[in-house]
Amino acid sequence: MSVLAIDAGTTGVTAVVVEDDGTIAATGYQEFAQHFPHPGWVEHAPEEIWQATLEATRAVLKKYDASRLRAIGITNQRETILLWDRETLGSPRRAIVWQDRRTADICTRLRDEGHEERVTELTGLRLDPYFSGTKLMWLAEHEPHTWALVESGRYAVGTVDSYLVARMTRGTYHVTDVSNACRTLLFDLAKGDWSDELCRLFGVPRDALPELVPNWGEIATTDPRSFLDLSLPVAGMAGDQQSALFGQTCFDEGDSKCTYGTGSFILTNTGGTLERSEAGLLSTAAWRSPDGDLTYALEGAIFVTGAAVQWLRDGLQIVGSAAETAAIAATVPDSQGVVFVPALTGLGAPHWDPHARGLIIGLTRGTTRAHIVRATLEAIAFEVRDVLETLPARAALRVDGGASANDLLCQIQADQIGVPVERPAIVETTALGAAFLAGLGTGVWSSTDELRETWRLDRRFEPSGDRSGPDEAHGRWLEAVSRSKDWAR
Ligand code: G3P
Repeated sequence: MSVLAIDAGTTGVTAVVVEDDGTIAATGYQEFAQHFPHPGWVEHAPEEIWQATLEATRAVLKKYDASRLRAIGITNQRETILLWDRETLGSPRRAIVWQDRRTADICTRLRDEGHEERVTELTGLRLDPYFSGTKLMWLAEHEPHTWALVESGRYAVGTVDSYLVARMTRGTYHVTDVSNACRTLLFDLAKGDWSDELCRLFGVPRDALPELVPNWGEIATTDPRSFLDLSLPVAGMAGDQQSALFGQTCFDEGDSKCTYGTGSFILTNTGGTLERSEAGLLSTAAWRSPDGDLTYALEGAIFVTGAAVQWLRDGLQIVGSAAETAAIAATVPDSQGVVFVPALTGLGAPHWDPHARGLIIGLTRGTTRAHIVRATLEAIAFEVRDVLETLPARAALRVDGGASANDLLCQIQADQIGVPVERPAIVETTALGAAFLAGLGTGVWSSTDELRETWRLDRRFEPSGDRSGPDEAHGRWLEAVSRSKDWAR
């Protein structure tokens, strides 16, 4: 028996088949377009996300016999907000992506009106353009004709998980789970439900929002006419970072992981306790069981890490692929004092500044692309260190995601944080988590203990004994971060 997991990320969709022994039997991937209509804006066409989902799944089905699949798990980029017509499933406009900064002024306005404290108390989040609520407010203010159809009930509002379920089921289901809902600014984290007070504040009709379902169990059934002849239960759903936490089998309080994706996200399981951070971490829902038990997490959300490498490839065009960066960076022993602050979409945890912008400093006549590439890898490690310094000390850090395959990055990371970095055999942990959820929901696995047995270490990176070199470089980084702040105000 096996499970199909769909990971609809920020830059592409991955489909994987996970066997009941936890191994991956087949993989498909399809990138989709990023739209940047104005500086600081980021949009995705919903139809392109759906077509990429079909393409990635088709690639898997070419290699794998669909009759062996027991269920589907879905995981997704969070906060990105979509509208679609409940009848035709067509979208009236492009999705506004989590990285989009257009609502920085709305956040300032709400803060000036004195709403921030209450919003944080209810949601565990902050007033930052990252989250969906102000994106919806922007739509209501700037596209009133479209918004009128949200208010009339014709258009549904949702995150990427809800949209994919709607497309897979021909619009029969409009659902989401707590790990996605809690990132919208419309969800009461302590109650575990949509908040009427927040819906009023952000002007969102509660009826337009999806129904909340548990993270595993029989959630929906795909319609073969829409989804590649497959009639399968959608039995697991979670936002990608919570899914990776599940995929790393971080089931116990205190367990944590760091996923290197478009951004990087460090999550620590806090069990049934809604913990709050004074140091810039978010409180978030991890998952809810079919019995209704809610598990929480603390999260350090860093916006641009893999996206910085993508920018080296597509923007600067100084590397041909992300995989090349380790070899290029290894041609120089250090970045020769070059620091890159990849605040390309502002700064997330722990610095939080939507007005910060990217900066490369320390350039000399001797600077080469190798120094800039190395500075990019170092920036990822510095950003993760900054978040870890706000959390209790740990014995080791579990990493996953695309860039964790980069040995040089893992080594720089270990040197920066001064504890070992542990990389599992399967780094597609986000998809793995969705597969685990769906398999748990359909009896492929009977318990989290059974899932824990499947975790295997690939490699452990030990930190170098020398602290002064890494600390000095980190000091330079902090100085550069302070200079990147407030630039676009
Ligand atoms: O909060 C944004 C996050 O869900 C995006 O993750 O993997 O697409 O970088 P990723």
